[in-house]
Amino acid sequence: MLIKKNVSIKSSEITPESIYLDRRRFIQGGVGAALAATLPGSLATAASRYSTTEEQTSLKDITRYNNFYELGTGKGDPALNAGRLHTSPWSIAVSGACEHPGNYDLDELIKPEAIEDRVYRLRCVEAWSMVIPWQGVPLGKILKRFAPTSKARYVAFRTLLRPAEMPGQRRDILPWPYREGLRMDEAMHPLTLLATGLYGKELPNQNGAPIRLVVPWKYGFKSIKSIVSIEFTETEPATTWNLKGPDEYGFYANVNPAVDHPRWSQKKERRIGDIFKRPTLPFNGYAEEVASLYAGMDLQKYY
Ligand code: MTE
Repeated sequence: MLIKKNVSIKSSEITPESIYLDRRRFIQGGVGAALAATLPGSLATAASRYSTTEEQTSLKDITRYNNFYELGTGKGDPALNAGRLHTSPWSIAVSGACEHPGNYDLDELIKPEAIEDRVYRLRCVEAWSMVIPWQGVPLGKILKRFAPTSKARYVAFRTLLRPAEMPGQRRDILPWPYREGLRMDEAMHPLTLLATGLYGKELPNQNGAPIRLVVPWKYGFKSIKSIVSIEFTETEPATTWNLKGPDEYGFYANVNPAVDHPRWSQKKERRIGDIFKRPTLPFNGYAEEVASLYAGMDLQKYY
């Protein structure tokens, strides 16, 4: 980023599978099922085996300590400028290697899907982290509806370009619009989420309303906000931070304490709200779920 610059997960913080299963059965059979039956599809949420039970960062910190350069480069700027951004109506242009390209209204994309709760760690490349309770839909479920063809090897995303409402875009800070991308298998991984809310509320503008990506095993800059375009591509798409600093920010950007940023160490992180740093975990603690995606790849080279 433009910046100048503990302990691993305690076993007590990991819910044993038996308890988790019991809890799930309880939720499915009891209160959860009763609630779900009374709620319209998009409001009913389901608990997830992917959620962490670590202490959640406060709503205040999650919504007032942000990176959203379109709304300013200071951590407090996005919250201050959030009100300028109009997020309704909102549509997403789907293009490239798929059978159903087109302009989709956001409601059309989200309404048919069950909204899930996911409590994820977010590790910024700047060496701070949070634990955020998101609501959203696994990206893969939405992508499947566009029927990607065999030529679709990557997915490219773009953020809204609207300098009138996003003061940061009136300055040459980054190549606008903000762009990100994933390999198809990363995009289809069940951990990869399109978030529409947090803490049970609509996504605040400063956090990427009305819809943003969350890829919890990658540095936070991969989790692109306020998405207006999804394109299936055959070749690796250009990404904003990689264009800005190719030696500092790679396409993959998997959280990796063994590969330092050229200007600072990635071995530790400060959880917002904590005083002391804690060790950073490979793949941000999601190695069991995602390490196999990178089998045989030299992660020093593909950083
Ligand atoms: N998306 C856009 N469009 N613009 C940005 O500046 N910043 C990224 C990512 N997505 C960014 C973005 C970075 S560096 C991080 S760490 C996360 O958003 C921060 O998300 P949060 O503010 O919701 O914690």
